[in-house]
Order: sequence, then C-alpha cells, then structure tokens
Amino acid sequence: MATKPRSEAGPRHVAIIMDGNGRWAQSRGRPRLFGHHAGARRVREIVAACPDLGVEYLTIFAFSTENWKRTQTEVAGLMSLFRRYIIKEMQEFVREDVRVRFIGDRYRLEPGLRKLMEEAEQMTAHCTRLNLTIAINYGGRDEVARAMRRLARDVAEGRLDPETVDEQTLPRYLDTRVLPDPDLVIRTSGEARISNFLLWQSAYAEYEFIDTLWPDFTRDIFARVLAQYGARDRRFGAVSA
Ligand code: FPP
Repeated sequence: MATKPRSEAGPRHVAIIMDGNGRWAQSRGRPRLFGHHAGARRVREIVAACPDLGVEYLTIFAFSTENWKRTQTEVAGLMSLFRRYIIKEMQEFVREDVRVRFIGDRYRLEPGLRKLMEEAEQMTAHCTRLNLTIAINYGGRDEVARAMRRLARDVAEGRLDPETVDEQTLPRYLDTRVLPDPDLVIRTSGEARISNFLLWQSAYAEYEFIDTLWPDFTRDIFARVLAQYGARDRRFGAVSA
C-alpha cells in the first residue's frame, strides 16, 4: 500500500490517553471489560489510520502503574486482552510494516506477557512505516525514578561525570530514549488530566481533551483532531515570526 507524504503541518508523534472504556460499557449495562474489548478494536482502527494521516509515531497508554488498584477481575482481564491482542496482531504488524515497542516497567508483568512483548519487539524491529509504542505498567514518575536509578549507577561506577548532566542527559535514560517527544497528546472521555503520562517528554506538546469515550473514537474524529493541530502555532517559548 502506498504511503502518502506526511503533511508538514501535521503532528509527527501523537500520544493518546485512551479513557472512557468503563463508562462506555456501564452506559450499556455491560461489564467494564466489554468496554476494554471495544477499546482494543479502536486501537486497531487508529493504528491502521496513522500512516495515511501522516503520523509516524503513535504512543498509547494501555495500563498505568496506578491501574493495579482496579479489581483483580479487571486487571486479569486487561492482561489477558493485551496477550490476545499481541498474539493476534503480530503478523499484521509485520505485514503493515509497524514497529512495536513497549514502555513501562515490564518486570512486574507476568512472564508470559513479557515474552510476547519481547517477541513482538523483535519480530517488528525492521519495520518503519509506523512506530507504535504501547505503555503497559507505565507511569511518568516511575519512569523518571527508574531512569535516575540507572543514571546514578553510571555516576557511581564512573561512566558518567555528574557535572555534565543536563537536559539532554536524562532523556537518554528514559524508556522513550529512541522516540522523539510527542507533538500532540490526546485524551478522550472529557477528563482534562495528564495522569502521569509522558511527563518529561510532553513539556512542549499540544493537548487535546476530547469528550468522546475511547470506544467511540473513530478514524474520522482522529483525522479532525489532527487537522486542528495543523492550524495551531507552536512557538516553543519563542515569538511568532
Ligand atoms: C481507561 O478507561 C482505559 C484503560 C485503563 C485501558 C486501556 C485499554 C484499552 C483501550 C484496551 C486495549 C489496549 C490495547 C493496547 C490492546 P477506563 O476504564 O478508565 O474508563 P472509565 O474512566 O470510563 O472508567
């Protein structure tokens, strides 16, 4: 399939907080997991839409470090959904030339899921059409704390001179070290919070808070949000020319 050239005005890296699955299900009298399954179908649709919409990097928040506080049924259901999603999509990612990465602390995840994550990363390592990053057991503060631990270790073991630490040093220790910063962060479901997502990386991102619940977030809505971004004037603290 031919890829359209990226519109210069469009965001290169879009990050999404996919919120509202629970409410979507509850409003239909169904269990919360029903909403997560509907949410997974939207993930597929939005991933497929990215290349044609000029998005090179898509980062999605699937499970936060705080989400362990949900009921055991919901947590187990989400973990099982992630496993099934990876198994089902792996070949499709390769066919569609999508490179998959995971961010977050994967060592708290069960070994079966971790293995699938590693396999998906390895199998798609050569893909270039879209960079899909899935955040599982991810928290921005936790990511910075883990990065600081590695940085401190490098200082203690003489690999890093503390006097050289600056704004360029920390990103090299973050889970996102190979990704550009997000240009646009979208949150669905009407909540205007960033909930510990990509805290360091989003310092200059634009934010869009959309009322639509995630399972209703279609490709057309996504395209509209991207078009609105194109109309904005990003100055990064400077003055417009
Ligand atoms: C937030 O909605 C959503 C989540 C915690 C899970 C996100 C997961 C998916 C979209 C499922 C599939 C993902 C992949 C990568 C296959 P919520 O449950 O907090 O909604 P609520 O605020 O209405 O309760």
